[in-house]
Amino acid sequence: MTCVLAIDQGTTGTTCLVIAHDGRVIGRAYREITQFYPAPGWVEHDAHEILERTLAAAREAIAEAQLTANMVPAAIGITNQRETIVLWERATGRAVHKAIVWQDRRTAQRCAELAPQAAMIGERTGLVTDPYFSATKLEWLLAQNDHRTRAERGELAAGTIDSWLIWHLSGGTAHVTDHTNASRTMLYDIGSRAWSPELCALFGVPASLLPTIVASSGEVARSTQATLGATIPITGIAGDQQAALFGQGGWAAGDGKNTYGTGAFLLLNTGAYRPAPGSGLLTTIACDERGAPVFALEASIFIAGAAVQWLRDGLGIIETSAETEALARGLASNDGVYFVPALVGLGAPDWEPNARGTIVGLTRGTTRAHMARAALEAMAYATRDVLGSMGSQGGVAFDRLRVDGGASANDWLMQFQSDVLGVPIERPDLVETTALGAAGLAGLAVGIWKDGAEFLASRHFTRFTPDKVGTVSAASAYAGWRRAIRAALGWARDTE
Ligand code: G3P
Repeated sequence: MTCVLAIDQGTTGTTCLVIAHDGRVIGRAYREITQFYPAPGWVEHDAHEILERTLAAAREAIAEAQLTANMVPAAIGITNQRETIVLWERATGRAVHKAIVWQDRRTAQRCAELAPQAAMIGERTGLVTDPYFSATKLEWLLAQNDHRTRAERGELAAGTIDSWLIWHLSGGTAHVTDHTNASRTMLYDIGSRAWSPELCALFGVPASLLPTIVASSGEVARSTQATLGATIPITGIAGDQQAALFGQGGWAAGDGKNTYGTGAFLLLNTGAYRPAPGSGLLTTIACDERGAPVFALEASIFIAGAAVQWLRDGLGIIETSAETEALARGLASNDGVYFVPALVGLGAPDWEPNARGTIVGLTRGTTRAHMARAALEAMAYATRDVLGSMGSQGGVAFDRLRVDGGASANDWLMQFQSDVLGVPIERPDLVETTALGAAGLAGLAVGIWKDGAEFLASRHFTRFTPDKVGTVSAASAYAGWRRAIRAALGWARDTE
């Protein structure tokens, strides 16, 4: 049985799937990773823990697939949380500091100081000058201890999680990243599709520190016996949101998707057309049907499913994320309660790193059901905030939205999302489209699937269509959401 190993290293953990050539998932494993919050607004991961748990999940998924003797997956596809940056020693492979996670806000002040350069940065990279991206995080890391001197001597290597994993999987022989991941660093020139010397100079990043940029589909390295017990070609790499777009079949201009994971990330493929920046959207790199780079528009919403996790782990008012569906359904309306989950600042379209979580409309009658419903509603409203401008900037009208990610399994949320947007929602049978996309990029490179159509042939979708009554009440509730956003922004910006 020919199959591919897909590794999806996400913010909260690593999912590994073994996907057979007929599209069936024949092996699956997951390992959570530890979140470190060393100071308010700071978020770190232990890069070595990520590596160990990823390898453990990969081995378990392969074992579960029960391949016949001597059979191993024909290829590995890697997809990853983007922007999170690691700095390590070339000689030992040891990280010199914990990885700084995409959600980390420690460089908010630095980004404010970069205001005079923001237009140039936007022009080169397609990005908004925000701590979200890797560049200011890497600059911060290089300013610690003797890291800059060591980097200038060529002793260190830097990279996003794809680079870190491939370095170790290949026994330290490959230092690579792909265009989709590079486009999230704020060091990559999206026009010339190469590292920008100007931005590297601005952030003091020596060229020798950065990985070689390679295609998202094609062999870049092989795993070692020591890591996965077999020499398997690594033939697919993409940032997780771009991998999800690929796994949804979003290969052509006009194709879009929304992923409800830790955050929510809407991507719209714009093909060869590079949209002008504006409305708080980002221009980024995605993949066409063969994994070649194309342009895309992205709306990055930092907190989506993570708001539900916070209700569970931070407040302890629910036991499982799935419980929110019944709690939300049990209320006839939100009764004016809104939760703006700006727990790590606000991303698209408002971009306010100093915003924090805001709850409005509490009364004596407010219950945990209202909080659960407000956390779910927030995902739908935040999607509405960006969908219209995305369509107009990308030159398309959304006549449906394809969705995936953990929270897309929530039927109440999907119906509410359809009502809020007024367009049908399509959810695939396998919501792990991120891993599926990585498998697709890897499998196409080694000929497991001859083209995209064959790769997605076995997928089916569930459709949610706008409900007449629901659409009317969702429209008035949305106005309340915008008022809550104004309250959150007012609080963040009122420094008196
Ligand atoms: O840009 C951050 C994004 O790549 C993280 O995705 O799925 O790990 O929340 P996820």
